[in-house]
Amino acid sequence: MSAAAVPPDPRLLRFGQADVQIYGSDAGLFAAAEEEFFRVLREAVKARARCSIALTGGSTPRRLYESIAQHAAAVDWSKVTFFFGDERCVPPDHPDSNFGMASQTMLSVPPVSYAPVHRIKGELPPPEAAREYEQELRDYFGDALPRFDLVLLGMGPDGHCASLFPGSAALAEETRWVAENWVQRLDIWRITFTFPLLNSAAEVLFLLNGEEKRAPVQQIFKERQPLPAARVQPAGKLLWMMDEIAGGEL
Ligand code: 6PG
Repeated sequence: MSAAAVPPDPRLLRFGQADVQIYGSDAGLFAAAEEEFFRVLREAVKARARCSIALTGGSTPRRLYESIAQHAAAVDWSKVTFFFGDERCVPPDHPDSNFGMASQTMLSVPPVSYAPVHRIKGELPPPEAAREYEQELRDYFGDALPRFDLVLLGMGPDGHCASLFPGSAALAEETRWVAENWVQRLDIWRITFTFPLLNSAAEVLFLLNGEEKRAPVQQIFKERQPLPAARVQPAGKLLWMMDEIAGGEL
């Protein structure tokens, strides 16, 4: 009697440039995401004595950030610089602030707190916040399009990533690195990396899980719909990490 075929965990798939890893449990998913985070970080610091990471907001990464902070010991955090791929147009102490969430879960926790952090000033008028952040990127990277060692992204149920929402103006931005973006559905301004900046990264890691991501995953990978997240096609590595609830139909 042949043993019932047990699917591998994670299941590894490839869709064009995207490496897709589908995990049977959240524990496995977040452990693997953390391992990839530290792998990129250590390689960058070893090769160039510096590492640039753009963090994502939302709720999914909280668990990852908390775990990174708990396992932060064996890294020279002074050589790691954190940025944000997007921000809500609120002050840093507002409950919706991506900086506030990342700071509370990871960035304020020693030794990660030794890493310089460039937050997007969501409290400024949106055009000024975008202009100022792009200048901060130029001050750090120079005037060539930045090549982040790692850009972390999540994805919304509508297939948005960063603050690049379906139907929003920033989707069409081809020269600016950072843009203010009016999000009609939410009736709010956001500040976001644009596709040129996202697609210049050495590695983009999408991290998602749960039922509400199942539909956009299907739309992107099976129906090939050009949702915003599908348009992230970086010069370097593209890695999608998800659980079987979000990726079970693939
Ligand atoms: C934000 C994020 C956004 C997020 C998705 C998924 O500012 O909210 O940058 O792009 O990654 O909305 O959010 P969840 O992880 O909460 O599902």
